[in-house]
Amino acid sequence: MSKKYIEFINLVKTINELRAIEMLLEWDQQTYMPAQGVKDRALQLSTLSTLIHDKLTSKKMGNFLEELQKPKVQEKLSKQQKANVREIAWEYHRAKAVPSKLVKEISKTKSESFNKWCKAKNKSDFKIFLPFFEKIVDLKKQEAEAIGYEEKLYDAFLDGFEPGFKSSEVENLFSGLEKKLVKIVSKIVEKGERPPTSFVKCGFPIDLQKKFNLELARKIGFDFERGRVDEAMHPFTAGTLHDTRITTRYDEKDIRPALFATIHEGGHALYEQGFLEEHYGTPMAQPVSFGIHESQSRMWENFIGRGMAFWQYFYPRLKKFFPKQFKDRSSEEFYFAINDVWPSLIRVQADEVTYNLHILLRYEIESAMFEDALEPRDTPQVWNEKIEKFFNLEVPNDSQGVLQDVHWSEGYFGYFPTYTLGNLYAAQFFFKAKKELPKLDEKIGKGEFSLILNWLRENIHYKGRLLRANDLVKEVTGKPLDDDFFISYIKEKFGKIYGF
Ligand code: CO
Repeated sequence: MSKKYIEFINLVKTINELRAIEMLLEWDQQTYMPAQGVKDRALQLSTLSTLIHDKLTSKKMGNFLEELQKPKVQEKLSKQQKANVREIAWEYHRAKAVPSKLVKEISKTKSESFNKWCKAKNKSDFKIFLPFFEKIVDLKKQEAEAIGYEEKLYDAFLDGFEPGFKSSEVENLFSGLEKKLVKIVSKIVEKGERPPTSFVKCGFPIDLQKKFNLELARKIGFDFERGRVDEAMHPFTAGTLHDTRITTRYDEKDIRPALFATIHEGGHALYEQGFLEEHYGTPMAQPVSFGIHESQSRMWENFIGRGMAFWQYFYPRLKKFFPKQFKDRSSEEFYFAINDVWPSLIRVQADEVTYNLHILLRYEIESAMFEDALEPRDTPQVWNEKIEKFFNLEVPNDSQGVLQDVHWSEGYFGYFPTYTLGNLYAAQFFFKAKKELPKLDEKIGKGEFSLILNWLRENIHYKGRLLRANDLVKEVTGKPLDDDFFISYIKEKFGKIYGF
């Protein structure tokens, strides 16, 4: 290994150690930190992010990258080393491109705009948020111009979350998906029959829920020697290979939120815990993209965790924890209750079918705004029209409409599409896994998860950021990303449940 490469990787590892510290501070902030700690924490995080930015954009890093990208030097690097250089060069470019004055202005505006969004949401008054929304959109346009893009300005945002992905590709996938999903949802609504769900929301003591959820996390493969499960208002996963923190959320009435938050975050955690030791601290031991990360959580949550086989194993165990609540209720009834599909206003409460329409709506608004085809002030109206078109529902106020998510107030544009991309990747990966593992359902029904986990390890986790998302999908499944896999899965599963 060349001396230059070793020095480069040492710098990369230092940066990633700082990032791991940053993540741990954020985890603490959302779990155990006392309220007043927020003042110190904001300063600590800002100091850290400056430090990370300075190291990443340093002259030293620039020189390493210049040297390591020379064709003669590249020839001598392994494909894993090349991937590390490519990925850090990409990070370097994105960090370096934006002038520090603009970075500071965005960060200042973000926190003001977040505060106004909270107020606006509480009072359901979009006008309070609008001036800050306009400002953040404008600043983000400047940022995108600074970063650069090939086709559309929106590509610059998308590339930050889903490296290499272009809006034109998303556009292609999503326009077909929308029509197909609207059709499926209207079929379900026409049938008009919803499964009984009262027995899954009749009260479940939280201490018992906790015990069950921890057991569940352990059973699917979460390694407690290298991680923890705690609670947070908005569940998330943070961490590194040897210390992965997941959070879940307990509802005293309803058993479902905690179960599926635990499985979802567990899926994220299995990815983090699944990188190879030898690549620790480098891009080769990091997730490919937000969408691929989400494909892991969604696969566990929906494709596995909302499947019949999964509850064949877990339902009798759940019943032992809550014998009264589930008395005279079969595993089929439970399966229906966790697969209740119905149009609703709020994204975070949506089921696995309608969820994607919530995402498409946000994507369409974002991309129109950044093509100057839509003004921020007109977003509530467009939002409400789309909800009517997709779900035949009326939005009673902006809190339950355009103001429901925090993302835009903090300038996270290009992030929403990764949720649906995650579902599409998951469907395509899962289709392939089932084909290669004919005994998969049988094993899951017996509570044996190592078959699927090892498949994910071999095909996805061990590869780190070796390939970009599109290439990974092609390598694993033999085909480029296609929404057919997702639509077939939805049609087959919910056609059976709802009889269409
Ligand atoms: Co997730």
